[in-house]
Amino acid sequence: MTVNTTVTVRVPAKVNLQLAVGPGREDGFHDLVNVFHAVSLFDEVTVKAAPPRQSNPLTALTASGEMGSHLARVPLNETNLASRAARLLAEETGRGTPVAIHLDKHIPVAGGMAGGSADAAATLIACDRLWGCDLSEERLLELAARLGSDVAFGLVGATALGTGRGEVLEPMSSPGRYRWVFALSKRGLSTAEVFGEYDRLRPDAPTPRLDPRLEKALVAGDAVALGGVLSNDLQPAALSLLPELERTLAAGRHAGALGALVSGSGPTCAFLVGDLEDPELLEREAEVVAALGGTGLCERVVTADGDVPGATIV
Ligand code: C5P
Repeated sequence: MTVNTTVTVRVPAKVNLQLAVGPGREDGFHDLVNVFHAVSLFDEVTVKAAPPRQSNPLTALTASGEMGSHLARVPLNETNLASRAARLLAEETGRGTPVAIHLDKHIPVAGGMAGGSADAAATLIACDRLWGCDLSEERLLELAARLGSDVAFGLVGATALGTGRGEVLEPMSSPGRYRWVFALSKRGLSTAEVFGEYDRLRPDAPTPRLDPRLEKALVAGDAVALGGVLSNDLQPAALSLLPELERTLAAGRHAGALGALVSGSGPTCAFLVGDLEDPELLEREAEVVAALGGTGLCERVVTADGDVPGATIV
């Protein structure tokens, strides 16, 4: 058997096609109906066996990427979800040895696209390989669910229905391939704060349900129908905390996007511009990108395709 001393895992961002949020639960979380869709903005996580030294910590973290000032928001200590993922795997298997974890970030930080969760999913896969744990997919999913609501989705990718607090996953049929434009905000939003604002705005939240029109649009691969039914219950809360997002959404809609919504807890805004076969795709995409750039509100505007597979060793 070859012994790996370095493992790199590529892991995608997600956008939520539907995020329905129920009332707050006793454990502080909310029951969700969360339609996850993995898109081709990737972080690359490299885990390297650290040279043996006395008093080595289990993990040492570094980060790079094109996110400029956003990178400063990535904690490079044991609170980082990637570091927690390595520790959890070490505790559960007894096989942990010190590692250096490098996060090459292209997923917006604190952007509502599950970048931190993606890094944790990638770290689980990388350490599992490096330490020779060879856990089953089921066991990895169980550890992922303990780390956070979105981590399990980072492992599976594609398009999936998340229930419970988002961690109970079921694949969804989605044969279409879509182009997305993402407007990255100059600001970040805290997921917990957005859920708190949701509770304030919606004290009477109903039980969340999957929108049957969304399921139908996905199965048909119908981008126009899909654009018309994208929904996010957290959007009013994100707009309440960051009102300028309303202008960002409006700019993309007026420029011809088929659908527009805040991604997850925000503040990244997502615009569906068409399926990849659409002859008008490039023109529409260029108009949406230009309109968003023209608002002066976005840190950056990027494009990506979905869906794509989950965490993969490269
Ligand atoms: O699970 P995760 O660490 O991603 O959640 C971050 C925060 O978002 C939680 O502490 C909680 O405040 C909120 N949350 C929630 N209900 C969920 C998922 C997250 O209230 N289903």
